[in-house]
Order: sequence, then structure tokens, then C-alpha cells
Amino acid sequence: MPSSNKAYLAMMQLVDETGTGNIVDLGSGWGNFVIRIAKKYPQRQIVGYELSFLPWLMSTFLKKVLGLKNLTLHRQNFYQADLSKTSVLVCYLFPEAMNKISNKLLEEQSDVRFVISNNFALPAWQPFKKIQLNDFYKSPVYLYQISKVDT
Ligand SMILES: C[S@@+](CC[C@H](N)C(=O)[O-])C[C@H]1O[C@@H](n2cnc3c(N)ncnc32)[C@H](O)[C@@H]1O
Repeated sequence: MPSSNKAYLAMMQLVDETGTGNIVDLGSGWGNFVIRIAKKYPQRQIVGYELSFLPWLMSTFLKKVLGLKNLTLHRQNFYQADLSKTSVLVCYLFPEAMNKISNKLLEEQSDVRFVISNNFALPAWQPFKKIQLNDFYKSPVYLYQISKVDT
């Protein structure tokens, strides 16, 4: 299920606070978020990892049609990807995935400075910012600043 439009707007607002580094969407789905962010920041490298074939195919097609040279889409399990040179992680996943991402950040050396998560909290960190969406569930979108000192 893709993020809602309100969630995309909140996620993009939070991306504005993350400097100029590369951005990785963990589970990029149909490409709705990565395409918007690649258009908005042509000077930043945007990467998406997606396991499901059809969403990956459609997003790859759109990337080509739109000529987004700063966007790379991998059909790959993001748990097996090398994220050590990533600056910003973005995700809309589920609690178990957030546990695994949290452990990965705690256990592995990486350049990750920010995590933006739609709806699901990142265990072991306190959010630096939280936007509450004006939707039925008052869904949260979190921005985490990743610093080993905080943990
Ligand atoms: C809820 S959707 C979010 C899509 C998009 N990021 C958005 O916000 O609209 C989650 C996506 O993550 C993908 N996914 C889940 N686990 C994954 C994994 N381990 N590796 C790659 N993709 C994964 C799913 O196939 C799904 O398309």
C-alpha cells in the first residue's frame, strides 16, 4: 500500500531538513515517493529498493520516461543491500521491519544521519521531529537524527 498524499507531503517537508546527502527509500513500491523526491532534488542521488516485480517494473518505466538520471531503482531485498554510504533512509514499512532497521543501525557502521518513517516508530531512538497528519488516524510521520550518542 503506498503512502497517502498527505504523508508524501510530510515526508518531503522532513527531507528538506536533511541536507544534501543521498536518500534511500526502503521498499520504494510503485515509485510515488522516489519519483517526487528525485524531481525535487535533481542534485541529490535517490535510490529505491523494491522486491515486488510489478511495482519495481512500473517505477523503472516511469524513471526512464521522466529521464530521472539521479534515481536508481534496484529490485532487491533492502536487508541485503549495502546502506553504509547512505545519508537518509526513508520508509513506510511495519513494526518488525523497523526493529530490524533499528538493530542494523545500532550494530553496523554507517553514514546514515537521518531516518524518516511514515507511521511506524524506530525503536531505540527518540524522534527529532514528528508531524501528525490531518487524517482519520492522526498518523505520525517521524524524523530521526541518527547519532550513536543518542542510543
Ligand atoms: C507500504 S509500501 C511503501 C511504498 C512506498 N515507500 C511509499 O511510501 O509509498 C512497502 C513496500 O516495501 C516493499 N518491501 C517490503 N519489504 C521489503 C524488503 N525486504 N526489500 C525490498 N522491498 C521490500 C513492499 O514490497 C512494498 O512495496
